[in-house]
Amino acid sequence: MPILRSAFIALSRNRPLRHFFEHSAVGTRLNRRFIAGMEIEDALRVAEAVNRQGIAVTLDSLGESVTSESEAHLAAEVYHRLLESIQKLGLNANVSVKLTQMGLEQSAELAESIAGELARHASAMQNFMRIDMEDSRLTQITLDIVRRIHARAGMRDAIGVVIQAYLYRSQADVEQLLIEGIRIRLCKGAYNEPPEVAFPRKAEVDVSFLKLAQLVLDNPFYHALATHDESMVNAVKAYAEEHRIDPARFEFQMLYGVRRDLQRKLVAQGYKVRVYVPFGREWYPYFMRRLAERPANVLFLARNIFRS
Ligand code: FDA
Repeated sequence: MPILRSAFIALSRNRPLRHFFEHSAVGTRLNRRFIAGMEIEDALRVAEAVNRQGIAVTLDSLGESVTSESEAHLAAEVYHRLLESIQKLGLNANVSVKLTQMGLEQSAELAESIAGELARHASAMQNFMRIDMEDSRLTQITLDIVRRIHARAGMRDAIGVVIQAYLYRSQADVEQLLIEGIRIRLCKGAYNEPPEVAFPRKAEVDVSFLKLAQLVLDNPFYHALATHDESMVNAVKAYAEEHRIDPARFEFQMLYGVRRDLQRKLVAQGYKVRVYVPFGREWYPYFMRRLAERPANVLFLARNIFRS
């Protein structure tokens, strides 16, 4: 299984394949399960439908690693429009942003300036922006940028970040972020990382996830536990119950199209759930990372393609 995971992650970086899939009808048919659609309107429609099930949303305009400053500004424009639309439509939704889409690989100053503007807009709308975490080369700079924006006046509730339980450094990062009052989304981590920086085995990642989940749950700020792993979900629920932590103080997060049964079950049990809804034309790397997490999805997708 780890070989398949690495293979899909390697494929996620394959440019010719990406071009082919993102521009073909087969590709569009393939991605329907995990992607809300190509346009903002598709995402807003899906967000409304998800909200009707009592589930909150975070919207992700797909795209990473832009190649110029103007592309970064265009990508940010989509998020500004999203923040306006969320408010206009009264959606229970916030936004998730990748700093490489905001120009981080061009210059850290550019990404910080664009993300700072977005956080200001989110704050003016009484909304929230989550900075997704990318591969470990970018962990430190991502945390630095989030910290600096968070420290600006009026930004305390407008920006949060993601911590990946597979990184050895994450416990220290969580402890520091909790001191600073920065909201965390805890996940296991989706990239191919070497054993020098990340736990190589799933069992170790799971232990780390639960240890960090407990730190986050013990903290009074509102944090998120992002996983589809039912054993993690059950362990979080058990810890919260045992320590009398009000379920309104945290949320579970899952990806659009993944474990919808579990999402619904948690809502029925009175837990808060938020679904990460990606949309846009640049869906290929995101999609391949989802296959890496669960190669069985390939069979599921193949059946759907050949059925329709
Ligand atoms: P894990 O991969 O350990 O699998 C356990 C079980 O969960 C599987 O056996 C299966 O039952 C179920 N499952 C998992 N994935 C599935 C799938 N795709 N389809 C069907 N079932 C599945 N990563 C990152 O590096 N940076 C980030 O910013 C984010 N952001 C983020 C936001 C949200 C809302 C979520 C849910 C996840 C992320 N991730 C992420 C991805 C995360 O790091 C991780 O790769 C995936 O969530 C998979 O890990 P799990 O804990 O879900 O289960």
